[in-house]
Amino acid sequence: MKEPLQGWAARAQLPQFPWDQLAPYAEQARRHPDGIVDLSIGTPVDPTPVLVQQALQAAADAPGYPLTIGTPALRSALVEWSVRRLGATVTEANVVPSIGSKELVSLLPVLLGLHGKQVLLPALAYPTYDVGARLAGCEPVATNDPTAHDPAAVGLVWLNSPSNPTGRVQSAEELRQVVEWGREHGVLIASDECYLELDWEREPVSVLHPSVSGSSTEGVLALHSLSKRSNLAGYRAGFAVGDATAIALVTEARKHIGLLPPAPIQAATVAALGDDAHLAEQKERYRLRREQLKPAVEKAGFRVEHSEAGLYLWCTRDEDCWQTVGWLADRGILAAPGAFYGVAGARHVRVALTATDERINAAANRFG
Ligand SMILES: Cc1ncc(COP(=O)(O)O)c(C=O)c1O
Repeated sequence: MKEPLQGWAARAQLPQFPWDQLAPYAEQARRHPDGIVDLSIGTPVDPTPVLVQQALQAAADAPGYPLTIGTPALRSALVEWSVRRLGATVTEANVVPSIGSKELVSLLPVLLGLHGKQVLLPALAYPTYDVGARLAGCEPVATNDPTAHDPAAVGLVWLNSPSNPTGRVQSAEELRQVVEWGREHGVLIASDECYLELDWEREPVSVLHPSVSGSSTEGVLALHSLSKRSNLAGYRAGFAVGDATAIALVTEARKHIGLLPPAPIQAATVAALGDDAHLAEQKERYRLRREQLKPAVEKAGFRVEHSEAGLYLWCTRDEDCWQTVGWLADRGILAAPGAFYGVAGARHVRVALTATDERINAAANRFG
């Protein structure tokens, strides 16, 4: 390749897209006579609720540009849901829809203009917090104690409870300490809560709950996603709710760059947030899969850590994660190596619950 024109390739190096490294193991797992059980990436496989599909279809005629801030129906649905499900005290000045939540995880530091600052993220974390920091010209810093850092250097703190990959749920008290530190020093606390409604052993709490942030949204932003809770990953539906100043800054930047949630998706989001029945049904499916898979994994000699909520079993055989990934691939099972999520994950694998009942059953037998 020719030398890049002056400056145009000056962007910070991004890490290799992690999933590419799994390709040889996927190949190996596919050779199993009964086919692969893919428990790696965690993509939903159950049907999108019919009422959501119908809302999408009913809004299919959309010749004009959608509003960045969302339709009035969407804005009131986001507020109503945040009050009802999170215990938040919010108005329409506190919400903005996003194109999935990954878009905001990766772009928040850019949209807030945090260039040159540190972005603190959990020591074991979804890789996109790190990528988003780099894209913005920030320094990603992995830490389990944001309050131990010099606040003058910090532009943003990411929290993620329940955690991907560990499924760990943080207590209201733990979250409150970080929120109070952020408020004291003027550092925004962003909480990625996309697994909040998928809990098994410990009830997660939003940063917007009064027990954490005292009925005020000051300095706090929560991110939510419909991908997992509503089987809507293909729709790309998410939103942010919290601090009105942060929401206004994010909204203004999104208007300029055209991050407009498509109109039919906005309508589908309203339908999904207004219906709790499909969530209960989906949660039950995952509960049964977890109840089948977890004992099988443990019987095979793995230790399952945390995993109190969310869609993953965080497991170890006390060996290098790639060795475990290979052991699983020999049995036709594909899992994510813990090293994808930080150096502290080097001896763990992440096993997703997002496969059909038939495939979960096959996996349980292969572990056994
Ligand atoms: C912790 C976490 N945040 C954000 C996302 C992004 O999800 P989406 O963009 O589908 O809302 C994921 C997806 O797996 C995730 O695990």
